Amino acid sequence: MELEQACRLAAEVIVEADALLIGAGAGMGVDSGLPDFRGPEGFWRAYPAFRGRQFAEVSNPVWFQRDPEQAWGFFGHRLNLYRVTAPHAGFEILRRWGECRELGYFVFTSNVDGHFQRAGFSPDRILECHGSINFLQCVRGCTGAIWSAENTAVSVDEATIRARPPLPLCADCGQLARPNVLMFHDSDWIESRSEEQQTRYHRWLGQLGGKRLAIIELGAGIGVPTVRRECEIREGTLIRVNPRDTDAPPGGIVLPLGALQAIQAMDTIVGVSVRARCSVGRFGSHGFCLPEMRIRVRRRAVRVWPSRPLLLRVGDRVSRHEADHNPLRNAKRAA
Ligand SMILES: NC(=O)c1ccc[n+]([C@@H]2O[C@H](COP(=O)([O-])OP(=O)(O)OC[C@H]3O[C@@H](n4cnc5c(N)ncnc54)[C@H](O)[C@@H]3O)[C@@H](O)[C@H]2O)c1
Ligand SMILES: [Zn+2]
Repeated sequence: MELEQACRLAAEVIVEADALLIGAGAGMGVDSGLPDFRGPEGFWRAYPAFRGRQFAEVSNPVWFQRDPEQAWGFFGHRLNLYRVTAPHAGFEILRRWGECRELGYFVFTSNVDGHFQRAGFSPDRILECHGSINFLQCVRGCTGAIWSAENTAVSVDEATIRARPPLPLCADCGQLARPNVLMFHDSDWIESRSEEQQTRYHRWLGQLGGKRLAIIELGAGIGVPTVRRECEIREGTLIRVNPRDTDAPPGGIVLPLGALQAIQAMDTIVGVSVRARCSVGRFGSHGFCLPEMRIRVRRRAVRVWPSRPLLLRVGDRVSRHEADHNPLRNAKRAA
């Protein structure tokens, strides 16, 4: 399938959906300027001080006992980086799409950076399956408490990626604190926050029976495949956005682009429709209002492509208005 065709098909799936599941891995943050850790080279590029070592070895709770300055150097550096980096414009677009769906959206992310919350997504509609760096816990889990890292500052030597004392401590027992992030070989991670998110997620999934679910997965890798698996097992139409790991199950739509570029390309088609749908406030099951016209949308999302659904005229109008800056065309050129 041609890239432009795939973008149009994906946009149509989103417009017609009653609900939107957003799956995100490390690649979602790349266009904000954050590194992914794909392969050892990716990890070493982001952290030259750890050259020769694996991400899975460094992201291990054992270092909080053996070498707390190194452990907090790695996580403190990430905490600081995620804090000073703004989520890219694609987050806002996804949120707009999700908020306009009759049954809303849910985010399932392995990212620990809190960028969906930063971009205005409702905390009640986010499942952080590997926890969040913006929350802390005791290394021993003495009381099971999880607290916000908002008022915690960690100073890190950028050259060595080692933290300078004082390091964050548990207010209950005085021992070292650590991020409430699921590390490798981590039996001490306190799951209660993530479990509450899971309960809300499953409640939302429970409402979807018979409804049309669009699943958009962005930057989810194959090294830690939790997000990919989650997006594949749900009953809906999968849109996989990934410039490299492009395998998809039958029926999936693959956009081999960066997350921001793919979202903007689809928004060229979806944007006006969804904005109009929201502002007019009509959610008929067969159609919705645009300022100048009423459009009937086909009930079924994925069909053989040959016809040009009415929806495309909306995209074309937008393209003409935005002829000089059309991300869809740019995406095609880049591919
Ligand atoms: N920001 C964060 O919170 C953050 C950052 C790095 C890693 N992690 C976590 O660590 C674990 C392993 O990390 P990993 O780096 O192997 O992640 P990963 O396994 O999710 O792989 C990254 C994926 O993103 C894709 N990608 C690269 N650039 C992209 C772009 N511009 N747009 C869309 N996709 C792009 C890559 O092809 C790859 O498939 C994951 O659980 C991940 O969520 C989190
Ligand atoms: Zn404690």
